[in-house]
Amino acid sequence: MKEKMEKPAGNFLENIHKEDYLAPYQTKKLKGLMLSGSRDKESLNGVWHFGIDQYDNCLRAKFFEENYYDDMGRAYPLDYSFDTWETIQVPSCWNLASEYLFLYEGSLVYTRKFRYQRHDKNERVFLRFGGAAYVAYVFVNQKFVGFHEGASTPFEVEVTELLRDENRIVVVVNNTRKRTNVPCENTDWFNYGGLYRDVEILRVPETFIKDFSVTLNPDGNGIRATVKVDGVIGNGTAMLKISELDFAGEINITDGKGEASFLVKPKLWSPENPKLYDYSLEYLEDKVSDRIGFREIKVVGTDIYLNGEPILLKGICAHEDSVFNGKAVTEAEIRENYRLAKEMNCNYMRLAHYPHSEQAAIIADEMGIMLWEEIPVYWAIEFENEAVYDNAENQLTELITRDKNRASVIIWSVGNENVDTDVRLHFMSRLAKKAKALDPARLVSAACLYDGEALVINDRLSEFIDIIGINEYFGWYQPDFSQLIRLFENSKPTKPVVICETGADARSYHRGPKDDLMTEDNQLYVYQRQIEVLSQIPYVKGISPWILFDFRCPRRLHSLQNYLNLKGLLSADKSHKKLAFYAMKEFFARWGE
Ligand code: GCU
Repeated sequence: MKEKMEKPAGNFLENIHKEDYLAPYQTKKLKGLMLSGSRDKESLNGVWHFGIDQYDNCLRAKFFEENYYDDMGRAYPLDYSFDTWETIQVPSCWNLASEYLFLYEGSLVYTRKFRYQRHDKNERVFLRFGGAAYVAYVFVNQKFVGFHEGASTPFEVEVTELLRDENRIVVVVNNTRKRTNVPCENTDWFNYGGLYRDVEILRVPETFIKDFSVTLNPDGNGIRATVKVDGVIGNGTAMLKISELDFAGEINITDGKGEASFLVKPKLWSPENPKLYDYSLEYLEDKVSDRIGFREIKVVGTDIYLNGEPILLKGICAHEDSVFNGKAVTEAEIRENYRLAKEMNCNYMRLAHYPHSEQAAIIADEMGIMLWEEIPVYWAIEFENEAVYDNAENQLTELITRDKNRASVIIWSVGNENVDTDVRLHFMSRLAKKAKALDPARLVSAACLYDGEALVINDRLSEFIDIIGINEYFGWYQPDFSQLIRLFENSKPTKPVVICETGADARSYHRGPKDDLMTEDNQLYVYQRQIEVLSQIPYVKGISPWILFDFRCPRRLHSLQNYLNLKGLLSADKSHKKLAFYAMKEFFARWGE
């Protein structure tokens, strides 16, 4: 019997029988491979309309097509009304927009209109998203333009041919945790959702500078610039200028790319002297400009060298989390975090467990804080799943593309606390090699687990990374503190070790005997014992305790925790410094002196 042809039945009938409705939207994977520097951008931030779409009806019934009438002009019944929906501020996390959205996991449909006037007949136009948690499906003027997976990295899409005077953008953002996501469904932080970073329009010439890097020459002589252009004219000359150095240098571009070295001698960037230079890069009608610091970071034996001097990484961890803004942290909050870290005599911060805002490295460059940046290959993701690897590698590539010109970033971390199995080793050693290939000028690390049975540092990933990150919670999750000493006695690492997590929970103002868990006195006691041991270990070249401030965490159900992870050295709103804050401040002032 001939199967009945599916007929276009508008927004309703055709789609209630299709459970593979997502397939057509997984065809155009958007990436974040266009480095925008400080290009002029037109902001689409502001008031958007939104609909809470628990059943994904926008994608199923194709709301974005705005099919209002059949071909005889008869109106269809609609299940959406874009411009009379409630409104929400972009950027923001929807969880903090209203009580009923706080714990929402699912799809939220964002939409707004915007006007576009062409400035130049050959200009090209891109939409750029700073981040969307976790997956985003983008539609412009009723057309699907692509989807992006990964909550914390930027992505862009060219819309040149789609724009007209009056335009509509629809973005379906879904933050549902999934086994095959990166990170997977189980983490120790709050699952915020939304268009929580900037949404912008970028106009570029027909041929434009798509990617560029300016670094110290690996051989220590001068600087090196690499440029990639996109467009019709792939051969020509780019011009790099650093006016403070009275420097201008040409870079020959062949088949869309080029690189050149120049014997200029910039002052070097360091936390004590975060020297930045304004530079511009021009190619044909395009020009990008930004600020950049020059520094060298390397490992020799078990030492870490910054600009030829051995250093200790005196740090602290931080989540991208705020009582008031969730993951949509503001520049002021980033600056406050670094100010607090410096008050604690830190020169370094571990941005856990995923790429933080683009502003994090820009402000760290300015304030003089070295950074560990990380992709969320966290705990038990599906290491045997090639699609999961591609997602992880894409997030790593987008992070490195975005931040590779930031002097403050000294370490790329490929993950956190993953059990040392064969599949995990294969997965993460590939990521480590990828990071090295994309950016030979930086160090690669990961937060590894020590071997709890043999009490030794022997994670096989160590062979593929420059710095061995170790998370250990002796005195807290492992109450027998004597094991920490045995761990170090048993271990003979040939690379620097950074204790990238250690700590204990303490409820602010909660006081008691030092053995009373969750008191500030106990947290202080754990820190004092940690400091006593760690300060004696010659190959420990960095410490970043867990964590600067308390943060939202749905796994923390004790009545004292009240859905917060209380390992902060400050309260979640940063109004209170716990006793251990002062212990770290005093230790970092003297460690290595
Ligand atoms: C782990 C993990 C953190 C977590 C912390 C804790 O080491 O890396 O993400 O928050 O321990 O248990 O508090």
